[in-house]
Amino acid sequence: MPTGIDSLDLLLKGGFPAQTVNLVSGPPGSGRSLTCMQFVYYGVERFDEPGLYITLDEERQSILRAMKSFGMRPEMYEEEGDLTVADLGWFSKVLGPEAEAPAGLAGMDLLRERARKDNLDVEWLSGEPDAHEELEGGFVGFRTLQAVVESLLKKRKIRRLAVDSVASIGLLSGQEELFRKELFSFGRFLRDRKLTSLLVTESFGPAGSVRFGVENFLADTHICLSLRNIRGESMRTVTVQKMRFGTHDTGVHPFTITSRGMEINVREFVKL
Ligand SMILES: Nc1ncnc2c1ncn2[C@@H]1O[C@H](COP(=O)(O)OP(=O)(O)OP(=O)(O)O)[C@@H](O)[C@H]1O
Ligand SMILES: [Mg+2]
Repeated sequence: MPTGIDSLDLLLKGGFPAQTVNLVSGPPGSGRSLTCMQFVYYGVERFDEPGLYITLDEERQSILRAMKSFGMRPEMYEEEGDLTVADLGWFSKVLGPEAEAPAGLAGMDLLRERARKDNLDVEWLSGEPDAHEELEGGFVGFRTLQAVVESLLKKRKIRRLAVDSVASIGLLSGQEELFRKELFSFGRFLRDRKLTSLLVTESFGPAGSVRFGVENFLADTHICLSLRNIRGESMRTVTVQKMRFGTHDTGVHPFTITSRGMEINVREFVKL
């Protein structure tokens, strides 16, 4: 399944295997969100595969604006119903313990009102005690994500999903053991629903490392983005760290971000 980034498809020998859970990791500013935007947006535009982009870190407007800066037209596809950019980052702020919102039904009303502004339907929440519990606990967790995906699947034939990022779920929940368990169960859910997904996580240390040390075990494919300092110059690099069900390129390649998106130089290798 093409990733929406032609040069990345060359490294992956065609793209992500269909119906798999994939991971993109990197430090802040490395291009993780852009990878997700290209994956979901071009899935709709070029391959007619409806997509859902869940943002937890950045506001919806910020994602739409970034997409437009790369020449994408997200609003058009959102209107047609093939693309959804859903910001869930603010959910817990409305229902959580520090929220100013009144508890119970009135809190739900506030959530509905705010969701309308974001073009998001939250009616599913009333039938989802697990998600409700997470939100009242003050964080958006995997149960909430699952409920959102499930409710959208009832209305639309979503094929591609991006979650930007799962690291923020781990950081907010504050319990690493729980994060691991729920992440794996979320992965099973995504495969069950026959979605091809791309999850984002952080990486700070050596290339290939991930924030919680488990995200790469779950993933079928792991794309590592890095910002390296090579002879005094900052360089973006990409490596395919892992790919189940197929062969892939294993080199460290330089890439640039242009107005057309990510462009990997697949013929050049970075010596470390
Ligand atoms: N229109 C554009 N043309 C060229 N480069 C751009 C353009 N828009 C953004 N960039 C570059 O893309 C990078 C942002 O990538 P992105 O937001 O995908 O990274 P990220 O890993 O998701 O970072 P974070 O989540 O920490 O903000 C920035 O470093 C910026 O310089
Ligand atoms: Mg980002």
